[in-house]
Amino acid sequence: MKQSGLSRSDVYITSKILSPASDDEATYQQVVDSVKKIDPSSNGYVDLFLIHSPNAGSEIRQKLWKALERAHKEGRIRAIGVSNYGRGHIEEMKKYATVWPPQVNQIELHPWCQQKEAVEYCQQNKILVEAYCPLVRNQKSDDKTLNAIADKHAKTTGQTLIRWAIQRGFVPLPKSDTPSRITANADIYDFVLDKEDMAALDNLDQGAQGSIVQAVDNS
Ligand SMILES: NC(=O)c1ccc[n+]([C@@H]2O[C@H](COP(=O)([O-])OP(=O)(O)OC[C@H]3O[C@@H](n4cnc5c(N)ncnc54)[C@H](OP(=O)(O)O)[C@@H]3O)[C@@H](O)[C@H]2O)c1
Repeated sequence: MKQSGLSRSDVYITSKILSPASDDEATYQQVVDSVKKIDPSSNGYVDLFLIHSPNAGSEIRQKLWKALERAHKEGRIRAIGVSNYGRGHIEEMKKYATVWPPQVNQIELHPWCQQKEAVEYCQQNKILVEAYCPLVRNQKSDDKTLNAIADKHAKTTGQTLIRWAIQRGFVPLPKSDTPSRITANADIYDFVLDKEDMAALDNLDQGAQGSIVQAVDNS
């Protein structure tokens, strides 16, 4: 990033924490160390820090959130959020959080795994929804419905999926190591999926069966 010559404010950097250290102080230090590695300047910061997963249990979720809150209060992190959290995990946070709601929930989202309950809950509570695996890791590039819509707009299947996520109000996180794909994946502002296109893509939902990583637990 430094070599690119871009200024720090031109990039948005997200990091995550998965598990706590031996005690609260060490957990907090882990977060601070991560920020320093990413942005070693004296006023270095990370734009967004997430708890990677709720799966380690209630006690650990609380410990991790406390560490993020502390670093956030000190300005080392601009926004704090969660990932793979369902309704119950976020409601539980009300018991201990001084920052609530989490600013972001990053979950798996694409037409085959739409996680409607979690999305509705987040949108009602003004939690920004980030869509991971928005390209379904290219595993659905042969899907007939998707290809028909992509052809209709003279766009690629990837561009169509990213456009679907944006029109659903998500922040899609398409990953690519390939420069030409990175450029193509950003070229999605010159077309709009109409009602029929959106309905056809919405119709592909397979619920938790359609996930390739993890569907959230809303209990
Ligand atoms: N919070 C979580 O638990 C979690 C879990 C999984 C992922 N994520 C995040 O979500 C981001 C995206 O997820 P993901 O990487 O699993 O899935 P993805 O973005 O749906 O798919 C990435 C795959 O699609 C390929 N690809 C990218 N653009 C393409 C295009 N235009 N045409 C054809 N293939 C294309 C990439 O290949 P090349 O790189 O070879 O171009 C890569 O193999 C990740 O970077 C990660 O940060 C978060």
